Amino acid sequence: MDKLRIEGGRPLCGEIAVSGAKNAALPILCAGLLGNGPLALDNVPQLHDVATVLRLLRRLGAKAERDGERVLLDAAGVTSVEAPYELVKTMRASILVLGPLLARFGEARVSLPGGCAIGQRPVDQHIKGLQAMGAQISIEHGYVVARASRLKGARIVTDMVTVTGTENLMMAATLADGETVIENAAREPEIVDLAAALVAMGARIEGAGTDRVIVRGVEQLHGATHRVMADRIEAGTFLCAVAATGGEVTLTRARPATMDATLDKLREAGASIEVSGDRIRLSMSRRPRAVNVRTAPYPGFATDMQAQLMALDCVAEGAGVVTETIFENRFMHVLELQRLGADVSIEGNTAIVRGVPRLSGATVMATDLRASAGLVIAGLVAEGETVVERIYHLDRGYECMEAKLGQLGARIERLGGST
Ligand code: UD1
Repeated sequence: MDKLRIEGGRPLCGEIAVSGAKNAALPILCAGLLGNGPLALDNVPQLHDVATVLRLLRRLGAKAERDGERVLLDAAGVTSVEAPYELVKTMRASILVLGPLLARFGEARVSLPGGCAIGQRPVDQHIKGLQAMGAQISIEHGYVVARASRLKGARIVTDMVTVTGTENLMMAATLADGETVIENAAREPEIVDLAAALVAMGARIEGAGTDRVIVRGVEQLHGATHRVMADRIEAGTFLCAVAATGGEVTLTRARPATMDATLDKLREAGASIEVSGDRIRLSMSRRPRAVNVRTAPYPGFATDMQAQLMALDCVAEGAGVVTETIFENRFMHVLELQRLGADVSIEGNTAIVRGVPRLSGATVMATDLRASAGLVIAGLVAEGETVVERIYHLDRGYECMEAKLGQLGARIERLGGST
């Protein structure tokens, strides 16, 4: 398994381009199953999770071809409605084929994702919403088996704010008979991007980006072209890294309007940030000040930025309180940060981070995607050598992370390994 070796303690300077958003690309690729014509997607990041969803779509019988940043998808030849366990277990977002398959083909068999490192993550809300639209759903041999001759519009109130749940129901509703209203919908920018792609395919959707999404079903959707939005989490990760190491960076091809919560926290930590069009310039010439964060659904502070911000607090002046409200087990990086000399204590869903003047390099193990990003940031600040093991997690969600950091002057290299 690959590892990253980082020689820490150097400021980061330079310019890098932000990639397309993983969490927008995945649902939009699944939305391709809904169309009668080909879907051309631009700005699709080269990530393991994207490769997994392409493999899944091909397994269903769709044509999916990649040409650089463009993916061409054609669902005309779909012959199977089954998403098998071996693909779903490596990427929970595979559940996003459930709504489209059911709406378009009247049938779906999708493996239950099971638990994952950051918590339980059930899909009961996806199921409840589809049942409200008239689907017959049972759990058989670990699979969600869903049937409906044609889904019917319904009013759905989800018990909690769920991003992929909202996406699944929104996609299913595009081909339903009548109007669907999703109340308590997630407001993430990736949902707005998915809605834009669906509208380009002929769907009728209002309210994406608010907590009330209204979908008026149509008979069929057609092909379209869409450009995937910029990845706000990738962008935020690089900004956090520079705020921690000091230096100056310009991000291009970013979507700053989707990043308010992160930019506010980085300013509070002492960074100077200028935004102009799709560019964000951050400079940091002092030791960061510790900040408190509480994760929340958008537009609150993203749980996917929590580990990175905690890494910043680890080397800050003062103490920061980090509260995780979305996932119950998302402090896996804390033990590893402690190995680098961080002073963090956990009580329930709260971590108290007392900043230390310096971290010292060590071997650490990545446990999930964003935890790994937090460890890389800590490694970039730490004195001496840090080795981050099991970086396949990182490859699920960051495009050429070490190359981009290298472009900013980081001493970082990928090592092949057998651990
Ligand atoms: C998505 C993102 C992920 C991000 C998360 C929260 C994608 C592909 N992934 O994940 O990167 O960390 O949003 O911003 O976009 N829940 C239930 N029942 C359900 C659905 C969710 O109990 O049916 C709970 C979850 O366990 C969790 C909370 O709701 O505690 C939010 O989860 P959700 O928004 O669904 O996360 P994902 O969509 O899986």
